[in-house]
Amino acid sequence: MTMSDKYPSESGRRRFVKGVVGSAALSGVGVGGAATIDIATQPAGGGGGPTQFAAIQQLGGPAPRGMPYIPVETDEEGYLRGVWPEVETVTEEGVTYDVAQMELGGQTYSSAWYQYCGRQNAPGVQPSADQNNYFLSAGSPDYEWQAEELSEGDQIHVDDFAGYEDWGNGFGDDGVGKPAQATWRSEGTDNVLPVVLIRSKRVEELAQEDSEAGNWIEAASTNGIIAYLNVCTHFCCVPGYKESGSAAQYDAENGVYCQCHQSTYDPFTPEFGTFVALPRPD
Ligand code: FES
Repeated sequence: MTMSDKYPSESGRRRFVKGVVGSAALSGVGVGGAATIDIATQPAGGGGGPTQFAAIQQLGGPAPRGMPYIPVETDEEGYLRGVWPEVETVTEEGVTYDVAQMELGGQTYSSAWYQYCGRQNAPGVQPSADQNNYFLSAGSPDYEWQAEELSEGDQIHVDDFAGYEDWGNGFGDDGVGKPAQATWRSEGTDNVLPVVLIRSKRVEELAQEDSEAGNWIEAASTNGIIAYLNVCTHFCCVPGYKESGSAAQYDAENGVYCQCHQSTYDPFTPEFGTFVALPRPD
């Protein structure tokens, strides 16, 4: 079962409809030319438009691109939090808006990475929102270890991933990576940013590589732990990492599988590209 199964059916329908709208807008920009891009880059609020991103790689299925990484850091006690860039105010073509953006690991990391699938309306995506950057344990997680050891809202600690070198849950191979489901910058709001964290030897190895991918992972991970926004870039479902027996039919038993339309992703291979972020409502 994925997190998406746990939403009430009526909210699932709403998410699907919203996803269709978001996806249509994105594909419209992809093929529609300058007129559409003008709309995206001159919104009432701002912060949308063509945006470079780093994401977990999209492998198969209809999703147009990967799901964006969230750079991870530890505090002095070992609790995990997402990096949020410094906020600056910019003016473009007479429109003034805030942007949270920084150079990190050879990439331009921006809060606009998360502006798709309705998350552009999430309070936590507002650049200057005073939100909690710590990853908080999700309610009713799909992983047995997490359900036993953490309560909803608990901060997640590096030590929670003990045994990651050979953790397994019967789906795919053991020792690929130990996951946790979390929320981020979402306290006090219904528009939640769902996150998956994974600690893996593959992340540690990739961080040693002298390559674009290695440089990014080195900067965006800590102690072999990565995080990504777990919102499918197709129609906005919440996929699962090692959560479903069906994933094996799509060669995704050791990766991320979206049960809605069978998109698959590899969380251990970064993908870099440009997408059109949807404008925030502010
Ligand atoms: S929402 Fe369609 S594949 Fe994920």
